[in-house]
Amino acid sequence: MKKLILFCIVILSFLGLSSCKSTLEEEKPTEENTPIENEENPKQETPISSNKKVLIAYFSLAENMVNEVDAEASASMSLPGDVTRLAYYIQKYTDGDIFSIHTIKKYPNDFQAVVDENHSETINPKLEKKVENLDQYDQVFIGYPVWATNVPRAIRTFLEENDISNKTVIPFCSHDGYGAGSSYSTIKSLSKANTLEGFASLGTQTSSAENSINEWLEKIGIKNVTSKVAIELVIGDVILQAYLNDTAVAKEFLKLLPQTMQLSRYADREYYGAINGSISAEGERKRQFTKGEISYCPANNTFAIWFDKEEQTLGMDIIKIGEITSDYRVLEALNSSIEVTARTL
Ligand SMILES: Cc1cc2nc3c(=O)[nH]c(=O)nc-3n(C[C@H](O)[C@H](O)[C@H](O)COP(=O)(O)O)c2cc1C
Repeated sequence: MKKLILFCIVILSFLGLSSCKSTLEEEKPTEENTPIENEENPKQETPISSNKKVLIAYFSLAENMVNEVDAEASASMSLPGDVTRLAYYIQKYTDGDIFSIHTIKKYPNDFQAVVDENHSETINPKLEKKVENLDQYDQVFIGYPVWATNVPRAIRTFLEENDISNKTVIPFCSHDGYGAGSSYSTIKSLSKANTLEGFASLGTQTSSAENSINEWLEKIGIKNVTSKVAIELVIGDVILQAYLNDTAVAKEFLKLLPQTMQLSRYADREYYGAINGSISAEGERKRQFTKGEISYCPANNTFAIWFDKEEQTLGMDIIKIGEITSDYRVLEALNSSIEVTARTL
């Protein structure tokens, strides 16, 4: 109820209206968690080619407060933020790069104080950094919580500092019941870009919004670029959820499943072992790895899963073939030698 009254104040102060009830009835969405289509953002008919590079830039209050908040804090102030969740669903589907927008001056750790500050803010806040190599991106998703029926000012700074006018821009947002407001048209006019239909979710429904996000992305023509294939890695009682990428090397490995491999622990950072069968395809070779990564080593025809020490540089090339999506840290506590069965679901 407190929150409801609060938003009446926010919205009325923005719209200059005198009746809270009528405003709420008009603006409250009828279908929660569904894409919002409007005249400015008609349904995209032409599918977008899959080799476009994607940037997912978002602002979330929980990542921009004076004191770091935790999961115990009140719903709208806890980590991960509502918008953060949406950003990571989009990332999972598009394999895009994430850029979290951070203001230099942080917002207070109190909801009402943030509302007051947003109301009295007259200049756009300075941001910690700009996007590096912006040229490489063709599609830019912009995510934000709806503030006073529009974008937070940090989004305005972002659009001023990062010229994305030659890109396809796609807004997404979360809110507490009053929808995207004027935010889509603000993004369209400030970015001066071609914008696609946006997505708006109730903040309380962001944790279950993955399917809606996927449906929306499909509808507006964003291809699931990675076409990931879900697999399981079974290690005794432990089952890790993972996926294989849509790459030539990963596809060849997929053809060899199911298979059981004997893996050895090495340097407290990885388990590796020989693959039963061979892989002749080529892929992007590298000497860095990330925690949770699944890779193939062409020199030794070995499979590896990585769980620590990602700052290290390897002495030989690996090719990424997938990623563990459940908690890879369970690997830390396993024996020096393990039997892993990799299988599709
Ligand atoms: C300053 C401020 C203004 C807000 N204004 C609105 C609003 O006009 N309409 C609405 O539905 N929600 C409004 N909200 C709620 C947020 O949009 C919502 O809680 C969102 O899901 C938070 O996302 P986050 O956790 O990523 O920051 C406002 C929140 C704040 C802090």
